[in-house]
Amino acid sequence: MSLRVVVKIGGDLLKGESPNLPLIEDLKALVKEKGLVIVHGGGDLVTEMATKLGKEQKFVVSPEGFKSRYTDRETAEIYAMVMAGEINTKIVGFLQSFGINAIGLSGFDGGLLRAERKERLVIVDEQGRKRAIEGGYTGKITSVNSRLLELLMGEGYTPVISPLAMGMKFEPLNVDGDRTTSAVAKAIKADVVIYLTDVEGVMLDGKIVPKISIVEVDGLLKDIGAGMSTKIHAAVDAIKGGVGRAIITSGFVDRPILDALEGRRGTVISL
Ligand SMILES: Nc1ncnc2c1ncn2[C@@H]1O[C@H](COP(=O)(O)OP(=O)(O)O)[C@@H](O)[C@H]1O
Ligand SMILES: [Mg+2]
Repeated sequence: MSLRVVVKIGGDLLKGESPNLPLIEDLKALVKEKGLVIVHGGGDLVTEMATKLGKEQKFVVSPEGFKSRYTDRETAEIYAMVMAGEINTKIVGFLQSFGINAIGLSGFDGGLLRAERKERLVIVDEQGRKRAIEGGYTGKITSVNSRLLELLMGEGYTPVISPLAMGMKFEPLNVDGDRTTSAVAKAIKADVVIYLTDVEGVMLDGKIVPKISIVEVDGLLKDIGAGMSTKIHAAVDAIKGGVGRAIITSGFVDRPILDALEGRRGTVISL
């Protein structure tokens, strides 16, 4: 039996000098099944580097409450540098040091992630007014080169993907990490997609919700904050695209992935 799993590694798990060892152990167990793909985030580190370079980052909020980085050309270059450079190589290095044959890829490599640039963004300004602004270098994924991933997985490599897509004019585009994860999961027909983050799951009234059906999501979203709502939307997208289940869980605990797969932790989102 083989299990296909796409794991997103959230931003907070990428800070610090050493990886969370229980997480590495679980990833090793999945590698044996020959069906693991990793996607990472790292927005805070992009902001940190941009600040060091004297490029102040601006964030915009959509009418639905999604917060995103306003990515002008210079920011897109810093984004590519940090995501595909610093963070991706750091993760690949950790995995290699633990015997996982990881291969780092951005959306450019082999045309892995193609995206369409968003021409306009509707945002809510400081006065609470809706306004359309130029889209900048953010994109929506239109295709995933799943054959490349199949090829690599078939040869025992573990792809580690940064959320940097290649635009229609071959320009760098910032794509959301959670959305990238669901696009990859759909493309390789994953059984499970796991969003590892810094909290134990979706919280409502101070408690973790163990299970959410996609039909319940709309009613719940108003009580859920930014960060988590992006993940829930991405999870729904994955399920509607044929992925069996999505799990949102902490990457900082013992047996983070194996316990989640056995239903002992986290929030499961399914049909
Ligand atoms: N209802 C909720 N349940 C759990 N976390 C929530 C909720 N609403 C907002 N959040 C926030 O979402 C965060 C996770 O998203 P984010 O910060 O984007 O992490 P990641 O880097 O893993 O994507 C949590 O740390 C938490 O602060
Ligand atoms: Mg996030």
